[in-house]
Amino acid sequence: MNVVELIQRKRDGGRLTADEIRGLIQAYADDHVPRYQMAAMAMAIFFTGLSADELGVWTDAMMRSGEVLDLSDHPLPRADKHSTGGVGDKISIPLAPMVAACGVAIPMMSGRGLGHTGGTLDKLETIPGFTTTLDPPDFVRILGETNLVLAGQSETLVPADRRLYALRDVTATVESVPLISSSIMSKKLAEDLDALVLDVKFGTGAFMQEFEDAQLLARTMLGIGDAHGTKVSAFLTDMSQPLGREVGNANEIRESLEVLAGGGPTDVVDLTYALGTEMLLLAGAARDEEEARDRLATAVANGAAMDVFRRVVAAQGGDTKVLDDPSLLPVAANSHTVTAASDGVVVEANARRIGVAGMRLGAGRATIEDVIDPGVGITLHAKRGDRVRQGDAVAEVAWSDPARLEDCLALLESAWVIGPEATPPPLIRERLRNDHASRQ
Ligand code: URA
Repeated sequence: MNVVELIQRKRDGGRLTADEIRGLIQAYADDHVPRYQMAAMAMAIFFTGLSADELGVWTDAMMRSGEVLDLSDHPLPRADKHSTGGVGDKISIPLAPMVAACGVAIPMMSGRGLGHTGGTLDKLETIPGFTTTLDPPDFVRILGETNLVLAGQSETLVPADRRLYALRDVTATVESVPLISSSIMSKKLAEDLDALVLDVKFGTGAFMQEFEDAQLLARTMLGIGDAHGTKVSAFLTDMSQPLGREVGNANEIRESLEVLAGGGPTDVVDLTYALGTEMLLLAGAARDEEEARDRLATAVANGAAMDVFRRVVAAQGGDTKVLDDPSLLPVAANSHTVTAASDGVVVEANARRIGVAGMRLGAGRATIEDVIDPGVGITLHAKRGDRVRQGDAVAEVAWSDPARLEDCLALLESAWVIGPEATPPPLIRERLRNDHASRQ
């Protein structure tokens, strides 16, 4: 294989054959293609893209660069949900046990927080003892025992993506729709799913801030699902303000437990039910939306969803006492109140500013090596559309390091914009299904 010729052809807008793509990705995963050549290829793709056929093969080759789970022995249909990342986005934590309690197996592999967005693994690890590092045999065993497993990506899964993502990070080639979509989908498809529901965010707190960019990303991932023969659905959801009232790791576990107990803020509950309904429909575990919603509501009301979460926490080494007494979760020792600067209605509670403030407090990471402070966080008292008076608390900050608090105060104080009136946009703007899912 002449890699220079492949780079040249892609650079000039030409097509790569399936064999060329498979050969290139396997050679890169095996360390036979140098990083500088793969960086040049990533930049060529950044500028000239990949056709739908090329992208299908590229994703499949990435997926096959390592171990692909075989969960075909599991008696239940398998589904997962992936969010492109946001602020206060704890949806996976109540959603996964609710759907599992309704008879769908969820082999969920999640990520860590990076930048202003949080990560499910960091949140789960605030439960004392809970481990998200599982070997593939333990992953499969726990899924078999509880219909749910909540872990990080194993070392052996999609190694080509780990290498390529690290390379893209330092070569300004992250923001490419074909590279992002193949990166996400290669990892999800390696989970051996029957159905996947994507939550693609847009707005200030999202990776793709513009709706049209998020829509393109969603459509591209649906196409990859079709090429692979998997049912995929995508929800385009607003991330211009944080989801729910809690931002921060232990804070978000507390809010997730509220949802599992039948409470929780309306936006978190609405999105959890919308995504859960779609997972049940695509997995064939409910005949229509009404039945799916009823099943989810029943699983919450009769404690079945909390019971699945309890079993998975125990199986992954966590202290289940936290589920009965969330005050056992870490809480930072100090508190600071952010107040409204004037009378009026909250026009904006800027997700990016609040997310970056949370990261500076210690709830997130600027680099992958940073250590999380599990008990720091921000509790929102006012969100878009809420009426406030000057001096009212709009947020409470739980902090542990005065220098870190100082570093985030100006951002937080400018995150709330107050005006005469506000019309909150819908949380879910659009739902798209790929051809496989539409044939449902
Ligand atoms: N998340 C991923 O997994 N990959 C990307 O390329 C971007 C976000």
